[in-house]
Amino acid sequence: MVAQVIDGKAFAANVRGQVGAHVAKLKEEQGITPGLAVVLVGEDPASQVYVRSKGKMTVEVGMNSYEHKLDVDTAEDVLLALIDKLNNDPAVHGILVQLPLPKHLNEDLVINSIDPAKDVDGFHISNVGLLGTGQKSMVPCTPLGCLMMLRDHHGSLSGLNAVVVGRSNIVGKPMAQLLLGDSCTVTIAHSRTKDLPDVVRAADIVVAAVGRPEMLPGDWIKEGATVIDVGINRIDAPEKGEGKTRLVGDVHYESAAAVAGAITPVPGGVGPMTIACLLANTLTACCRANG
Ligand code: GUN
Repeated sequence: MVAQVIDGKAFAANVRGQVGAHVAKLKEEQGITPGLAVVLVGEDPASQVYVRSKGKMTVEVGMNSYEHKLDVDTAEDVLLALIDKLNNDPAVHGILVQLPLPKHLNEDLVINSIDPAKDVDGFHISNVGLLGTGQKSMVPCTPLGCLMMLRDHHGSLSGLNAVVVGRSNIVGKPMAQLLLGDSCTVTIAHSRTKDLPDVVRAADIVVAAVGRPEMLPGDWIKEGATVIDVGINRIDAPEKGEGKTRLVGDVHYESAAAVAGAITPVPGGVGPMTIACLLANTLTACCRANG
């Protein structure tokens, strides 16, 4: 079997197109422009790339983008005061604090100081609880993007065996909740899981979110399974020349694509969907704020 490639780039462009159309309608009919504030503390190069890309796409869909770049040694009370200001700013409908934060800042405290209604990352403890109990919440962007691609590919996910490899708060746990909400039988596997290859081989749906380059080989994948690769890992690529690198996922793409029914590539799979879902969440927050 040669897997169908799930084109996350095209899917994300479509989602952004729909968000953009809705934003234009909101402006025209109600004079409202959704606004997304992104807060970056420090100068982590990967975070800077993400934040730039978020800002660019926010503007492209017609929303207002507010970027707040703070020094790496910003005091916690200064960051909390900024979040409080954004919470009370009616022009700001979504707030995202880029993670990871510098070590001296308490990530939980900072995230939980965001107004849950503006928490477009879905990381606030209230949103985590609402998602876990199947109530209306803000849903974390990466798992939401994965779910959208899975629903599009399968139609109904009901009754399918899903294995999520990775138990992070950002991806693994909310992904499992979303799959459960769509009536999958869900297993969360992780570094301590016994017989991991056999656990993965039992899955109709594999979501790999461990952050280890090419950790899941093709012979762990059941024939015809759908593979969603959340990993984005940069590895050395001497074959491209000295000092060159390339991006790979958590799945060994070539061997997995030879047995899977469908697979997301890296890059061009889950990655673009994360930002598209962030924009969709910002639009949702804006619509909820304005009745
Ligand atoms: N850092 C890596 N991924 C994310 C994300 O989805 N949201 C935030 N806020 N920070 C991140």
